[in-house]
Amino acid sequence: MIKQERARILAIETSCDETAAAVVVNGRDVRSNVIASQIALHTLYGGVVPEIASRKHMEKINQVIAEALRQADMTLDEIDAIGVTYGPGLVGALLVGVSEAKAISYARKIPLIGVHHIEGHISANYIEHKELEPPFLCLIVSGGHTHLVVVRAYGEYEILGKTMDDAAGEAFDKVARAIGLRYPGGPEIEKAAQNGDETAIAFPRAHVSGSAYHFSFSGMKSAVLNYLNGCKMKGIEIVQEDIAASFQRAVIDVLTKNAERAMEETGIRTFALAGGVASNGALKRAMEEACRRKGAAFYCPSPILCTDNAAMIGAAAYYEYCAGVRSGLDLNAVPGLKLGER
Ligand code: KG4
Ligand code: ZN
Repeated sequence: MIKQERARILAIETSCDETAAAVVVNGRDVRSNVIASQIALHTLYGGVVPEIASRKHMEKINQVIAEALRQADMTLDEIDAIGVTYGPGLVGALLVGVSEAKAISYARKIPLIGVHHIEGHISANYIEHKELEPPFLCLIVSGGHTHLVVVRAYGEYEILGKTMDDAAGEAFDKVARAIGLRYPGGPEIEKAAQNGDETAIAFPRAHVSGSAYHFSFSGMKSAVLNYLNGCKMKGIEIVQEDIAASFQRAVIDVLTKNAERAMEETGIRTFALAGGVASNGALKRAMEEACRRKGAAFYCPSPILCTDNAAMIGAAAYYEYCAGVRSGLDLNAVPGLKLGER
């Protein structure tokens, strides 16, 4: 059990296409959460352009931090530690946040804490659910990751399953593109699916042999591409809404099935969703239903805390801070950082 101290943390997140800063007190009290999204820029190219992301982070970072402090009504003098995402993510994007955090830490002599981005997503649950404490099961579904983990204690994770190929969000983005929807594809598919028939097309529910908990989404994406090609060759009209609804249902079925099995086999009856795809209402409802069947408590952050933000990094940094974790000024961006690694 870690000793929880009082700490006001300035958190910075620049791993992908959001420049974000937040002030979080004692891990769960969010005083500000500022997000400058670059989505509109990247949409023009159908996905995130790493070079543009880094450049935009550089332009925005100081402004975003100043705004986070202003909204929290604090100055750097009142900040006890700086938390920053140092991986995984785009190396050039991560470097902007890491360099900024190191500069502030050095200039102000404030402790620095490098945070794992996925640990941030998991910790988003602590912000809105004050009663949530480890141990619990967590399914993290984002643009870059799909992990089913047991959160044994703060900062202590056991990975049960992960994707063998594409992440769930990545599959949403790729399928959206194939059926003519904009980036990011997840919210677009969710919207289109509301007017579609989820039983219209029987896309496969891929299972990875040898593991009950791993995921595979690239086959599901290929099934959609094959279906589209088949329609084209046979001159069959494509109903975007039906494809969106059927694909979304297939992804949800696989995610809930593995999650239910994890509840059964671990006996853990507390379950949390996290990551950008967790802002999908249909997934949230299906998971809530699965938890009800298993008699488990269900947690999910509100959409703004599911997608990338710095408040979740502040929450994760707090528990690392209390555990005595401090990063040196040699902290570097680690684009392929694994969960549980330091
Ligand atoms: O967590 P996040 O903001 O960034 C990463 O760490 O990857 O997740 C972004 C991903 C994108 O793939 C996006 O399409 C997906 O989350 N996403 C959604 C929804 N909102 C965002 N997927 C399905 N339904 C949504 N409503
Ligand atoms: Zn993320």
